[in-house]
Amino acid sequence: MLRKVLQTLCVVAIALGAMALAHDFHDVLNGEPHCGTPVISERDADQVDQIVARFKSIICNNAEPGTVRICEDVHVRATKFDPITIPVNWHVFYDSATGGGMNVTTEMIDHQTDIMNEDFAGLNPGGPGGYHSTSFRFEVANVNFVDHSNWFHNMIAREKIYKKQLANSTDTHLNMYVGEMRGGVLGMCYFAFMYPADSHMHGCLIHHSSMVGGGQTNYDNGQTCTHEVGHHIGLYHVWQAKCSERSDRVEDTPPQKTNSRGCPSPVPESCTPGLYDNIHNFMDYSDDICRWEFSAGQSQRADEIITVFHPGYLSHAERSAIRVAADRAGLADAWAEAGRFQSRFAAREAEWTQFL
Ligand SMILES: *[C@@H]1O[C@H](CO)[C@@H](O)[C@H](O)[C@H]1NC(C)=O
Ligand SMILES: *[C@@H]1O[C@H](CO)[C@@H](O)[C@H](O)[C@H]1NC(C)=O
Repeated sequence: MLRKVLQTLCVVAIALGAMALAHDFHDVLNGEPHCGTPVISERDADQVDQIVARFKSIICNNAEPGTVRICEDVHVRATKFDPITIPVNWHVFYDSATGGGMNVTTEMIDHQTDIMNEDFAGLNPGGPGGYHSTSFRFEVANVNFVDHSNWFHNMIAREKIYKKQLANSTDTHLNMYVGEMRGGVLGMCYFAFMYPADSHMHGCLIHHSSMVGGGQTNYDNGQTCTHEVGHHIGLYHVWQAKCSERSDRVEDTPPQKTNSRGCPSPVPESCTPGLYDNIHNFMDYSDDICRWEFSAGQSQRADEIITVFHPGYLSHAERSAIRVAADRAGLADAWAEAGRFQSRFAAREAEWTQFL
């Protein structure tokens, strides 16, 4: 009898789990600096991982050695392949009536781009150094200053309206929107798998105060952009599934109970003694000066998510190598399954954006 009751409670607990996660950042973090990226269910996360595994198995069994990044060991990728340099279209909102957002300059955007390039190349100057270099680099393609009080003040509430008008080449370019968000949200970004690659909804929102030099206490050294772009390329928060074994779907980041703050010392072992929280990882909430690395496992995951769900960032050579491999496997379109998932996911957006 007791077992039966416990089983029932478990099922209810699991069903409520996804909702509870999504509630967390509003009920608990409202007012405190935090990231507004929607939390996805474990079921959706499983499907994403299964699609990646199938893609890898088909393509890597048929590709010419050395032509497809995700088929090579993550530690040798950087020597065999050029970085994936993503051109960025920046849209900077400001309010000329009040002066809000007007201290975001092209110099600040250049500086912010340098910081992202350091962070993604494993060259953040904090900590002991020697961090893993990811495949990703960034360059400024275009900077667009937009005088619009409503969009500036309500970046989340108005995002559908201005993205439809302003989003520029989302399949090949990352779009970054700078302005204000309420309730302590410093940034948010959709995962590459949430919308079709060419959807105008892609792109990250960044609070101007957390751009480098923007004035946000503890969060204006530029790591908010690094963190949000990390979401876009497929990385979850390091505490995504709390102490569950699958945590953030990355092998080398230990499970972590919840987000960190400040720069805790000693480093907490919140789930298992001996497994240290990821306080120095860009996908945690520690102060900017405390965050300095992506792990090799995160780097590998990001390559996979982008190759499968956002191939417009890849070189022509790599995309054609993937097409050749798919053709050998008798597959008409390597990206068809991913594309169908993205369309289905986007169609359910009302469900997963309800807490925004
Ligand atoms: C779109 O971006 C390109 C460069 O990435 C730029 O040359 C072009 O002016 C932009 N178009 C609009 C409408 O902003
Ligand atoms: C921009 O404005 C904010 C708020 O007034 C201020 O805290 C911050 O230091 C300013 N940043 C720059 C670079 O002037």
